[in-house]
Amino acid sequence: MQIEQQLPPRKVWFRTYGCQMNYHDSERMMHHLSNVNFSRTEEQSEADLLVFNTCAVRDLANQKFYSHVGETKKIRHQNTKQVKIAVSGCIAQTEGKELLKKYPQIDFTFGTDVIDNIAEMVFRSFAGDDRFSINTWDKSSDYSIETKVTHNNPQAFINIMKGCDKFCSYCIVPFTRGREKSRKLLEIKKDIERLVEHSGVQEVMLLGQNVNSFGKENNERFADLIMALEDIKGLELVRYTTSHPYDVTPEMISVHKDAKKLAPHLHLPVQSGSNTVLKRMLRQYSVEHYLSLLEQLKRANPHMVITSDIIAGFPNETEQEHQETLRLLEKARFDSIFSYAFSVRRGTKAARMQDILTDDIRGKRLREIQLLQLKIQEDHRKEMSGKIYKVLVDGTSDMKGIKKWKGRTPCNRLVHFTYPSHDLDLTWHWVDVKVISSTALSCQGELVFDYGKKAPNSDHNPR
Ligand code: SAM
Ligand code: SF4
Ligand code: F3S
Repeated sequence: MQIEQQLPPRKVWFRTYGCQMNYHDSERMMHHLSNVNFSRTEEQSEADLLVFNTCAVRDLANQKFYSHVGETKKIRHQNTKQVKIAVSGCIAQTEGKELLKKYPQIDFTFGTDVIDNIAEMVFRSFAGDDRFSINTWDKSSDYSIETKVTHNNPQAFINIMKGCDKFCSYCIVPFTRGREKSRKLLEIKKDIERLVEHSGVQEVMLLGQNVNSFGKENNERFADLIMALEDIKGLELVRYTTSHPYDVTPEMISVHKDAKKLAPHLHLPVQSGSNTVLKRMLRQYSVEHYLSLLEQLKRANPHMVITSDIIAGFPNETEQEHQETLRLLEKARFDSIFSYAFSVRRGTKAARMQDILTDDIRGKRLREIQLLQLKIQEDHRKEMSGKIYKVLVDGTSDMKGIKKWKGRTPCNRLVHFTYPSHDLDLTWHWVDVKVISSTALSCQGELVFDYGKKAPNSDHNPR
């Protein structure tokens, strides 16, 4: 409150890169800044504070940020008012000091574990204490927060844990997000109850790098958390991301049969279809184990939709190992995948491997993976034709000059649909949509029923 009185009204502009956790962090920072008289602007030119919330997961993410921050050099020359430039997130955690040296226009950098102190850092910077970098870790053993939402919509991200202890050999995340820590089950439940009651939230996305290892240090289990959310009146849909195949337990599988509010979707990154590559990636499971998990999940709920991540061209991947990944795609028949060419991350085990692969080979393998997956996706989307899905409408899109409403099914597929009347705003309505045609990437449908802004019931399987 004291700070609020000392700061005049100002505007903040955000650019966020990377995963949902980072987007959620930006929202959390916005909440803290609004307490000290900041409002958000989409116009960089009218902002008093620019925040780049960065991602370090692949080289491309770094390059995008370097190019965007490079462009801010001119702001210093064009602007007469005092503009502060801050860099947060995963690059700032590991390279904060280097960034200050390399880009004189940056005023301060701060890492992933101090975002709740953003107001103090901004105050310090505007007070003239410039060019500092903070990347300390929160040393306390427990992790306790209250979710902050700054939007006015029924979807909310909920951090249930932070960090990652897996240290997959290619991945920077354990270095940028620190060790795993979970919030307590009861705290999360109360947090969501509050959001449902006071902020109109109906759908939550539980976030963690590996939610299956939720609660280990507190003797709590992720499956119990999901079941505990079942009795929150007014909560309609529960999603979660991401899961690691090593930690998928029998309880986790049966919760997909028992929990009525749980979305019939699981994002379960496999990374490679070759056991020898999985070993080098330090993933701790085999292809056979992974496929048996998929079978068990389908048995628990036949409507389950599985999506995944694949890395093409891990160091020294042979043509045969790559072919094994293509064969896995054919067997697993994922609903969709995120696929990436391997990218060296400084400090990881894979960065120390002697590698004979070239960028050309990586690119070629990535294209082969994507081409095959597109065919598989096309088949899946065709099978959706004629079925009715419940969709929470999140906006519109312009498709060849035609305005269409859009939203995601509980199984996380994007659906576009038309509605004859342009007067009614369907945003955040729950609707039934019948799919009539599809491509590999999306489905076109027509409105069957509009339930309005309150969800009808918790059956999330297609009819
Ligand atoms: N925690 C999740 C997991 O274990 O699968 C996701 C972590 S990461 C934020 C998202 C995806 O980025 C990974 O699943 C992996 O496919 C990809 N990724 C991570 N490091 C990479 C690297 N060095 N090169 C290419 N892709 C990478
Ligand atoms: Fe990275 Fe592996 Fe942790 Fe996922 S589980 S965040 S890929 S180290
Ligand atoms: Fe990127 Fe950090 Fe997320 S590296 S993917 S923003 S955890």
